[in-house]
Amino acid sequence: MRTINFQADFKSWRRAARGLLISKTPPDEVFWDDGSSTSGLFSELSFSAEPRAVNTEALPSGGRATLNIPAAFLGLAEQAACHRDVDRWSLLYKIAWRILYEEERHLLKIETDPEVRRINLLAKEVRRDRHKMTAFVRFRKVGECSDTSREQFVAWFEPDHHIVELTAPFFAKRFAGMDWSILTPEKCVHWNGDQLQFSDGVQKSIAPSSDELDDYWRTYYASIFNPARLKLKAMQSEMPVKYWKNLPEAPLIRELTVASAYRTRGMIDRGVNEERAHVSAKVPRGVPNVESRASIVSPAEFVAASVDADLDQLRDAAACCRGCPLHENATRTVFGVGPQDARIMIVGEQPGDREDLIGEPFVGPAGQLLNRAMAQAGIDRSECYLTNTVKHFKWQQSEGSSSRGKQRLHRNPSASEVQVCKPWVIAEAMRIRPRVLICLGAIAAKALIRSDFRVLAERGKVAGESPLAAHVVATVHPSSLLRWRDGPDKIAAFDGFVGDLKLAARLGAEE
Ligand code: URA
Repeated sequence: MRTINFQADFKSWRRAARGLLISKTPPDEVFWDDGSSTSGLFSELSFSAEPRAVNTEALPSGGRATLNIPAAFLGLAEQAACHRDVDRWSLLYKIAWRILYEEERHLLKIETDPEVRRINLLAKEVRRDRHKMTAFVRFRKVGECSDTSREQFVAWFEPDHHIVELTAPFFAKRFAGMDWSILTPEKCVHWNGDQLQFSDGVQKSIAPSSDELDDYWRTYYASIFNPARLKLKAMQSEMPVKYWKNLPEAPLIRELTVASAYRTRGMIDRGVNEERAHVSAKVPRGVPNVESRASIVSPAEFVAASVDADLDQLRDAAACCRGCPLHENATRTVFGVGPQDARIMIVGEQPGDREDLIGEPFVGPAGQLLNRAMAQAGIDRSECYLTNTVKHFKWQQSEGSSSRGKQRLHRNPSASEVQVCKPWVIAEAMRIRPRVLICLGAIAAKALIRSDFRVLAERGKVAGESPLAAHVVATVHPSSLLRWRDGPDKIAAFDGFVGDLKLAARLGAEE
């Protein structure tokens, strides 16, 4: 019995197999050792990244002898060689031997042959794994190369088989214009616009876990999801649950499928009937008693499952939103107002006391200041769509009593309240498709631009693409201007605010 030490890849195996076939070494006299059995046992202790020393050079080379191996076998063998099955090398050699020396030239056509069945199965599983890699790798932007200014991206993927090298050229072709690395536990691949390089595998903890691109993916996924077309079984077999954990849209997939199941089984409509009594008991006089599915699903579920809903349907649904506890103390949901074809969409933080009572955004003191600034900037409010990041008024009763009696004092929404409510404002933007999105204040800017956005440092036109509008402009919240003491600083702050709005007006007027 000969032990053949070789590096665990198709090229090394092929070189070794060629020598053995030329010297007519029968399969049962060969033991293939690619090092994986020992590295499996002692992998905890192994830290050498050096390529494995192999003794295939000692094999008879056969000089210029040619072996008449069918190309179909080589193609199939290259795929099967990427499988994790430890017996794959001996299987490949046995098949090659039979084709060459047992007069079974057409062996691969005999699909019932156990060895042919086996190689086909291995190759199929590898093809499937490669398909998953090409479909489910999600790059995350990590920076820009200071020399070349090329954007740099990293992705994490956990393949089932040894497919990184075989699949890397697909990514080099598809994502040729950016620098990227795909990290996996076994092997990593890197592209610099010119060539592919490979390095040892890494642990998942070094891969970046999330960034703003994730939000874009989720928004995009929700917007293309059509519940009427949902075939859960097909979707699960296309996208096995094990891949979901690394996809930014994964949390949404669950919500989408739940919402879709609700809808198809008519559970939402049944639920609405049961909810109706509860809703009408709570809703103040004058507020329409909206029958909505949203009363029993989260905003994310509703929005994702209602890509065909128009603004009015979204407004009706939001009127019954129970996504977070804020509805308990608010008079009503304050949804956006304005024309559906508005070129400018203005997003504030949350309704204030007046807005909560009247049911419209920006009708209180901050709204009046906004009106004045818009007029100076040459923006016609009636042509804009105005809304808020959070749709319910969050407040706390004032201590003691002022001359105006007890007051409802504004309180900032928590991060989770913003997160739960955010699908409504994203859905509004997706319907309006404004040319310019103006974020007033930190809550709107952090929710819609970047979670670490700093309004004072980064106000004005925001660089980079947004899925929500052609241009995004961030500025201060008008209520912050109300807090300035009268004097030159207050005038300067107001002028700065008007300046930002003028910029938005200019961008909005561009074709
Ligand atoms: N502040 C906001 O952010 N929105 C309003 O609608 C009113 C005040």
